[in-house]
Amino acid sequence: MTITTRKQFDGMKKIGAIVANCLEFVKARARPGMTTKELDDIAAEFLLDQGAISAPKSTYNFPGSICISVEKEAAHGIPGDRVLEDGDLMNVDVSAHLDGYYADNGESFVLGNADQTKTHLCKVVSKALYSGISKAKAGGLISSVGREVERIAKSNRFSVIKNLGGHGVGNSLHENPEFIGSYYNRDDKRVFGNNMVVAIEPFISNGAELVQESTDGWTLFHERYYTVQKEHTVMIRDGRLPYVFTEPTISA
Ligand code: CO
Ligand code: CO
Repeated sequence: MTITTRKQFDGMKKIGAIVANCLEFVKARARPGMTTKELDDIAAEFLLDQGAISAPKSTYNFPGSICISVEKEAAHGIPGDRVLEDGDLMNVDVSAHLDGYYADNGESFVLGNADQTKTHLCKVVSKALYSGISKAKAGGLISSVGREVERIAKSNRFSVIKNLGGHGVGNSLHENPEFIGSYYNRDDKRVFGNNMVVAIEPFISNGAELVQESTDGWTLFHERYYTVQKEHTVMIRDGRLPYVFTEPTISA
């Protein structure tokens, strides 16, 4: 969506804070020994309390309120009876809508004691997200975000995932611009519009370039390598850094 009114801005701000707070709330409650379904129930209750509706559930009939991807799962993991273990690499992705406004955010983190690779991946993807966001400006190339993400990944000897990316958001969960990659594409001449709302989400790996779909029809994974992601919903501006809608306003 492109924001043209104060009402739209306030609507995005409201749902942005809800999905960000939900992500914080879930992260703070993830413990070894829990199932991913138990974590999903916590998110479902949080969203219900706020009057918000899970976007993947209402848009795609996703079998859960949030996506929870564990270890070598990269995205769209289905909450279920998997028991979380100490040292697990996790990704929690929360997207929801309220009053017709949609926001999307996600984060990878390690549960408890982690090995160096997992911790480093999470640190690098966070840096790539904020640095990528700083390259996004009205009139600038959409691909300049991916260029920066790729630069940071490579300087840490990590790879980027080519078949996952960010997207326009706001009036629906996924809208134009359709694909904001984690790499530079010289053929991609699209530019950001002023006040355009997008979800920026770099995907970085310790070796994978493509993830594949599991037989469950949802989960994206790689057999050998880890993938991490971090995502914010932002509004692109002219001559200023993007405005981030998905900063948490509570500490969980
Ligand atoms: Co997301
Ligand atoms: Co997204």
